[in-house]
Amino acid sequence: MDSLTIRRPDDWHLHFRDDAVMEGVVPYTARQFARAIVMPNLTPPVTTTARGAAYRERILAAVPEGIEFTPLMTCYLTDNTDADDIAHGFATGVFTAAKLYPAGATTNSDSGVTDIRKLDRVLERMAEIGMPLCIHGEVTDHDVDVFDREAVFIERTLAPLIVRLPHLRVIFEHITTADAVQFVDGAGENVAATITPQHLHLNRNAMLVGGIRPHAYCLPVAKREVHRLALRAAATSGSAKYFLGTDSAPHAREAKESACGCAGIFNAPYALESYLAVFDEEQAIDRFEAFASENGPRFYRLPLNEGTITLERADNPVPEVLNVNGTAIVPFHAGEMLGWRLAG
Ligand code: NCD
Ligand code: ZN
Repeated sequence: MDSLTIRRPDDWHLHFRDDAVMEGVVPYTARQFARAIVMPNLTPPVTTTARGAAYRERILAAVPEGIEFTPLMTCYLTDNTDADDIAHGFATGVFTAAKLYPAGATTNSDSGVTDIRKLDRVLERMAEIGMPLCIHGEVTDHDVDVFDREAVFIERTLAPLIVRLPHLRVIFEHITTADAVQFVDGAGENVAATITPQHLHLNRNAMLVGGIRPHAYCLPVAKREVHRLALRAAATSGSAKYFLGTDSAPHAREAKESACGCAGIFNAPYALESYLAVFDEEQAIDRFEAFASENGPRFYRLPLNEGTITLERADNPVPEVLNVNGTAIVPFHAGEMLGWRLAG
């Protein structure tokens, strides 16, 4: 097979940032995807309907002319989230979902939730109105090893949450472990997961053997090979519970190549090519369309996109660095040759 035409896909987990970097990264995503779930971890975070609406306008202003792209906004949950405000944001179409960051779990999560029980009323309300909850699933306890934080989150936080609120629709974001796959497979239809390209390509050796590679560092951090293989099996299984979410997270080159480097991988420019390489290697190209274009909208109860995109088998060299509206950012697969290319 030398070319693949599929229904236009969406990115169900993405960081656009703000200001000049946002203006630089929006075109990469708009070229690849029809819609994207936009993460709210700005400084200050997108915690209210008013901020969500204003951020959406800034994003739309950065979409290149002639391209149809719809940002789907999320509300950043804090200990003080007002249930009425986010319900209003959901009812009026400003917010598509709300995002739970455990406080301190990742980039710009300091205002996140300190104890999920403080959100009981907000989450009950979300379950009532059918508003999806996106979860960064890692505990932040200092005594829990960083490689165990996702598995411990399932046991301490996620499993009890699903029992308390069996109708809440939950997206377990950017899963990185076989434990997460097992949990999602065993949960009801109200639980789904996104999987990033980097967690399908990289294990922790790729980040740490032969020198430390800061551009392979993101959160949740890549795990052992057995976990990467479980994620590849899940993504290509045909299960409707798994869908595409890049977690593309641009950071300036010097912020990554630093004594305390930032977490996040900028994969937006070659996201589809990166995912398709995995489906190709796993002999599952026939399952790519469901993962990229169907499972996500069905879970979110949104219409499937009209229109198609085509990918062709062709050498596609990835630059070492990109000039993103004045900021040097190293893309995922920098310096590598990809075997597929988005046509047009
Ligand atoms: C993200 C970021 O930089 O905003 N970083 C990351 O490593 N994935 C935050 C996140 O999704 O955890
Ligand atoms: Zn993210």
